[in-house]
Amino acid sequence: MLNPSSTFSKMQKQTANLSHPSESMSNPIAKLDVQNVGKSYSTRSNQKLTVLQEINLQICPREMVCLVGSSGCGKSTLLNIIAGLIPPSSGQVLVDGQSVTGRPGSDRGMVFQGYTLYPWLTVAQNIGFGLQFRKMSKPEQRDRVYYFLDVVGLGQFANSYPKQLSGGMKQRVAIARALANEPALLLMDEPFGALDAQTKEQMQQFLLELWEKTHMTVLMITHDVEEAIYLSQRVYVMGTHGGRIKVEIPIELPEHRDIDIKLSSKFVRIKRQVLHALRDEVHPNSQLLIHNS
Ligand SMILES: Nc1ncnc2c1ncn2[C@@H]1O[C@H](COP(=O)(O)OP(=O)(O)O)[C@@H](O)[C@H]1O
Ligand SMILES: [Mg+2]
Repeated sequence: MLNPSSTFSKMQKQTANLSHPSESMSNPIAKLDVQNVGKSYSTRSNQKLTVLQEINLQICPREMVCLVGSSGCGKSTLLNIIAGLIPPSSGQVLVDGQSVTGRPGSDRGMVFQGYTLYPWLTVAQNIGFGLQFRKMSKPEQRDRVYYFLDVVGLGQFANSYPKQLSGGMKQRVAIARALANEPALLLMDEPFGALDAQTKEQMQQFLLELWEKTHMTVLMITHDVEEAIYLSQRVYVMGTHGGRIKVEIPIELPEHRDIDIKLSSKFVRIKRQVLHALRDEVHPNSQLLIHNS
């Protein structure tokens, strides 16, 4: 019988030796290892459009990492390559040391910006959608769905339909659906981009609390610098041109964060570093780890 809490105790056991993200940096097996990934398209006039080049990034178990970059710099392309939805032109993607390049799989859960719930299914049916394809009894599926409904605080909306939910609630269902499949890695592409400012802030707090509870490994894309800093242990900054990762900035804030931390001088200092990096400048006081430049 499924003990839903085993879902997270398993995740926690995997990471039990990592009391702090920085210790995880020495872990020889990264949860996600993106090696020299490049992507180009040929245009109608038979020219080569290079969208990504020499992308290298690693995420350790239980890290939450954000990738920031301006619109059109290649963020979604990179996430879709990691998810296996589009093949890279070069390089490879490893999850738990295994190549997953060009192969979608349930080891990578995806949450998109747009609401991707099935409108004809209830909230509970949406969360359980992927489970029906797995070898799992109906009672096990049900237990798991209700466990994750609780995790995202939507227990009383099990029988509601997506149109009856607010934008923030829909995204919580999408996160629960991704988590119900026990992904090794949660990939999110601007998941809060369509929400109003207040709901977005609530969702950031929700995600941080969820991460503290579950110790899931997350790669999230955003163009919102404050969001990236508030949520992550490290931020990768993509350059505006050339499809490269320009810098990697460790976020040296306490692991447990309150929303007011956004007003602290340390937070503002880090924000300045990230903004300078985004604007293709390097701040004189920053200690940026420069990649590919
Ligand atoms: N299938 C495609 N064919 C040609 N160009 C594409 C394709 N998909 C994305 N691009 C181009 O790749 C660049 C990066 O797109 P994208 O990854 O969506 O950026 P971001 O998510 O950072 O806004 C854009 O210039 C876009 O036009
Ligand atoms: Mg995008």
